[in-house]
Amino acid sequence: MAQHPNRQVVLRRRPTGLLQPGDTELASHPAPQPVDGEALVRTTYVGVDAAVRTWLDDRPGYLPPVQPGEVVRAAGVGEVVESRCAAYQVGDVVATLCGFQEYVLIRDDLFTTPVPRGADQLSMISVYCGTGATAYFGMMDIGKPQPGQTVVVSAAAGATGSLAGQIAKVAGARVIGIAGGPPKCRAVIEDFGFDGCIDYRAGELGNALKQHCPRGVDVYFDNVGGPILDAVLGRLAPHARVVLCGVISSYLSGHHPGPANYVNLLSKTALMQGFNTLDKWDRFDEAFAALKRWEQQGQLVHREHVFSGIESCVDALNGMLTGANIGKAVVKIAEPTPSPQPTAASRGAALGGCPSSGDT
Ligand SMILES: NC(=O)c1ccc[n+]([C@@H]2O[C@H](COP(=O)([O-])OP(=O)(O)OC[C@H]3O[C@@H](n4cnc5c(N)ncnc54)[C@H](OP(=O)(O)O)[C@@H]3O)[C@@H](O)[C@H]2O)c1
Repeated sequence: MAQHPNRQVVLRRRPTGLLQPGDTELASHPAPQPVDGEALVRTTYVGVDAAVRTWLDDRPGYLPPVQPGEVVRAAGVGEVVESRCAAYQVGDVVATLCGFQEYVLIRDDLFTTPVPRGADQLSMISVYCGTGATAYFGMMDIGKPQPGQTVVVSAAAGATGSLAGQIAKVAGARVIGIAGGPPKCRAVIEDFGFDGCIDYRAGELGNALKQHCPRGVDVYFDNVGGPILDAVLGRLAPHARVVLCGVISSYLSGHHPGPANYVNLLSKTALMQGFNTLDKWDRFDEAFAALKRWEQQGQLVHREHVFSGIESCVDALNGMLTGANIGKAVVKIAEPTPSPQPTAASRGAALGGCPSSGDT
């Protein structure tokens, strides 16, 4: 087999804050040849998730930190181009932890999930992967929005927040987003169908929350932490649920300021709970089936901010961290092969990975 050149974004030194020139290197090596039990995948799309930045820090997490000299880790979608593994045939589409690189070796393990061949690979990475599952489980299992209740979602124009808010709308709640800047706030209302949106960069958040949530906040889906979390805690309704999804406001500094208004959890008999989507692994099918149904019924839309080419991975990551994206930030690494017919049934959801609902 001819060896494909494989360009990859390699970590050279640990970044402080946003990635700077010299923190990573765009290296090129021949793609590895699969040995028995392995297959070679050509990456088509790679997701630019907040987790990618956290994996570059030397801190323990649910996966080990990326080490200098290793490819920057990220979840994506790609196509099998060579196989010496019974589980995969050439042409199969898979979701896997491909990293920021053009080719990756896979095995028949939990890191890789087959995707139906005819599926739209872009929506696979943007909805029917960790992102959709995170929005679904955070909102449904912890937020539990009820008809007429007020739900607030931060980073509302982003990948997870835009889906989480729409899920709360399906449940009959009144949903208010928090996002940075007028174009994002417009998208939150006009594209994603929220009832209102607060521009947190425009001024004092406490007053805006009072105006938009006169009866208090019944559910807060928090993607950001920091001062926004504190402000929303100050506005909780009795028996509120606060979903701790992420703390993107402190991923660059590594400093997590404590919320003074946490005492409201006591006075409002409220619940604040964190979660890791991967713990819900065995229920990914349930999440994807519901998301698919809502999408088909016109109750759920998704948007992607697509960066182009392996060279744009670092800019895409810095861009996502500073709010460049509306919807899911994705890098298109290569053109997917058009496939007329959905085929493969898949077998379950993978780490950082994707779906099994055969009809997606
Ligand atoms: N718990 C889990 O299992 C799990 C799984 C996946 C993701 N997550 C979390 O979900 C959150 C969203 O991740 P995502 O991948 O969907 O990213 P995303 O929302 O698509 O993009 C990140 C957004 O965060 C906002 N942001 C950045 N810095 C901010 C700051 N200082 N204050 C307020 N907003 C800020 C930006 O929007 P603005 O322009 O509006 O500021 C940016 O567009 C992250 O915290 C991530 O860690 C959790």
